[in-house]
Amino acid sequence: MARIRVIYENGSPERTIEFDPAAAPFQHDGQPGSVLDVLLGHGIHLEHACGGNCACTTCHVIVKQGINSLSEATEQEEDMLDRAPGLTPTSRLGCQAVIEDADADIVIVVPRYTINQVSESR
Ligand code: FES
Repeated sequence: MARIRVIYENGSPERTIEFDPAAAPFQHDGQPGSVLDVLLGHGIHLEHACGGNCACTTCHVIVKQGINSLSEATEQEEDMLDRAPGLTPTSRLGCQAVIEDADADIVIVVPRYTINQVSESR
């Protein structure tokens, strides 16, 4: 079983789930087995304004642990990430980062701001 722990920068209570990556997809948005797919499929909300199609940055997550258990970022993902507020060297798009390791132990942080929220506050 793989494990993912979700920490929210806004102070919401963190969540941890265990899942079998081989059972993906868990729902219909994002790449099958991606962070977004796993979270939504287990009742954990993650913004995904473009429906998991690598066309926004609202699913931006910062990987604190287990980045080597995730698929490599594509050029398209890298280009989109460049627009994400609060970009870090371990930032990924949740809808594109596929959990490839059956025993993955991943920790992610959901940033406080996404593009949606930033533009709404202007
Ligand atoms: S949901 Fe839009 S890029 Fe991931």
